[in-house]
Amino acid sequence: MAFDEGFLDELKSRVRVAEVVGRRVKLVRKGREFMGLCPFHSEKSPSFSVNEQKGFYHCFGCGAHGDAIKFVCETEGLNFREAVERLAGEVGLALPEESPFQREREERRRTLYDVVALAQGFFRERLSGPGGAAARAYVAKRELDARTVDRFGLGLAPEGRTTLIQHLTQKGVPLAEIVEAGLAVVPEGQSEPIDFFRNRLTIPIGDSRGRIIAFGARTLLPDGKPKYINSGETPLFHKGRTLYNLDRARKPAHDAQSILVAEGYLDVIALAKAGIENAVAPLGTALTEDQIALLWRVAPEPVLCFDGDAAGQRAAYRAIDRALPLLKPGQSLRFAFLPEGLDPDDLIRRDGAAAMHAVLKAARPLIEVFWERERDQADISTPERRAALQHRIEAAADSIADATVRDHYKRELKDRLWGLFRPQRPVRPGGTGIPLRQLGAFVPPKPSLRRPQALIGRGRRGPDQPVYGQNPPSLRASAAAKGAQRQAPSRTEAEVAFLLVRYPGVALQDYEAVEEIAFAAPQLERLRREVLHFAVENPVLDESVLKDHLCAQGLAETLSALEKRDSLALDRAAAAGLSPDEVLLRWREAVASQQRIQALRPAARRARADWARDQSEGARRSLDEAEAALARSFEAASGEGDADL
Ligand code: UTP
Ligand code: MN
Repeated sequence: MAFDEGFLDELKSRVRVAEVVGRRVKLVRKGREFMGLCPFHSEKSPSFSVNEQKGFYHCFGCGAHGDAIKFVCETEGLNFREAVERLAGEVGLALPEESPFQREREERRRTLYDVVALAQGFFRERLSGPGGAAARAYVAKRELDARTVDRFGLGLAPEGRTTLIQHLTQKGVPLAEIVEAGLAVVPEGQSEPIDFFRNRLTIPIGDSRGRIIAFGARTLLPDGKPKYINSGETPLFHKGRTLYNLDRARKPAHDAQSILVAEGYLDVIALAKAGIENAVAPLGTALTEDQIALLWRVAPEPVLCFDGDAAGQRAAYRAIDRALPLLKPGQSLRFAFLPEGLDPDDLIRRDGAAAMHAVLKAARPLIEVFWERERDQADISTPERRAALQHRIEAAADSIADATVRDHYKRELKDRLWGLFRPQRPVRPGGTGIPLRQLGAFVPPKPSLRRPQALIGRGRRGPDQPVYGQNPPSLRASAAAKGAQRQAPSRTEAEVAFLLVRYPGVALQDYEAVEEIAFAAPQLERLRREVLHFAVENPVLDESVLKDHLCAQGLAETLSALEKRDSLALDRAAAAGLSPDEVLLRWREAVASQQRIQALRPAARRARADWARDQSEGARRSLDEAEAALARSFEAASGEGDADL
């Protein structure tokens, strides 16, 4: 028995050739392909390439060439049928029933393409013909130009009950085939079929080779219900395995290594009209696993676009649950949210293509949207509720089938969870042995829900390099010049850092503040991150254990420099007698002046960038002012840095 074309297409769309080949050949990614040593001839440098998108391997040395099925035949000594059965088993695809009608079915499929193509010709003629004025007016209202109508093959299914049936039967198409192609239906309680699409704008749906297999259609009535319909399942068309416009989008998407998923047909068309050609849409349903697999064959991180309202968010969450089990190394989804109440078509018509590009540029990784969902739904006010959240998140991570991706998810989610829980924890004595209960009125800050990044334990921010540290020579004479040549920490920074390591128990009650601080001195920035990291992993903080840890991280010099500070040496003498309130007060003051300095930095940075771009008098003056403000706040925090730090 021969396998029918549909089955083989399906198998090929599920099997990943790089995975199959990768079991025998060590492959290394090179751009869009994988390279390795050819298993079919002996060689020392790799000339064997695998192209996942095309579904082929090819050896530039010996010319060996084929798809996953052929590879299995050649390397496992199986015949075609056996190889197909093996691969189908691996991807969980049921083998087609062997039946005497097999051949006939193939034949029928072939003729159904012709029937659908005839219908397409009919719809198109109707749109440009005498009865098409209202539909043309609608098309014009949607700002679809002639070229777009032509490219996307838009047409008109007229109002009558059997106009298409009549047209096709006149051409000799049997009624049964018209029904089988999804173009006619027998209404309930009646015996004669009528046209399925009536008084609608038709949108042809192509298969991966661009052959038309079905139609979507929009009502032309202002409140027509349903707004959209599409052909039912037919031998040619399986809704859940088809993406609208994939035939046209594949190449641009592959070239750009990026593909977008919009919700509607007309969004895809509007995107293409605006020059964004790499967009597809599912067909009125949520994305299926098969559709996600199709997307990944084209690009590693498809971007799903959703309306920014609650419904769009829910749809995004559904897509996440669908995708989590399927994630693979390097293979994920991203999410772009449009302004509330707008779809891509609306946005482009209102604000132009640039607005859409901005939305796409802001697309966020799956893990971010996942985390946001869990965090925002979570009530973490009691240990049991925190445990419940942790459980839910672990269960979601466990649904990831790929072990490597699963591990990375677990690790990252654990970090994020602890970052979230940390500020909620009860007050706990720090290494100083100060009974923190005495701190009385102090209430740990609530985690900010507005700024999720603030809750992530570590690794989210690069060291905040002092902008004035890189001034061009011509600027050295400006207001902040004195500070400009200094990479060493300011007194404020050193004070904050000192208190952080000397009284971690007090400082980390202000966990969020510690997270928010960005030191300009790289070594203090490293120290700060290490302390945060340590605090997350070690619920009971002990000053000496923390110090050992920091030394082990290569921060011994930084620590001793902090302790060597003259002013602080005095404090050390006083430390024994320092009351918890005094420690807290000093910490608060130091943090506040650090925050003031930090708040001035972006302005200085902007001013500097402006000056670099446009060396005008005005820009120069703004820069001087910004740097002077910064210098003043340094001085207010008592000025000089410590050159030895
Ligand atoms: P929307 O209702 O968001 O409409 O449907 P839209 O795409 O913005 O349509 P216009 O701009 O009013 O013409 C989005 C997609 O959901 C499916 C269709 O695939 C549609 O493109 N849909 C919608 C249906 O299948 N049936 C419906 O009744 C409505
Ligand atoms: Mn719309």
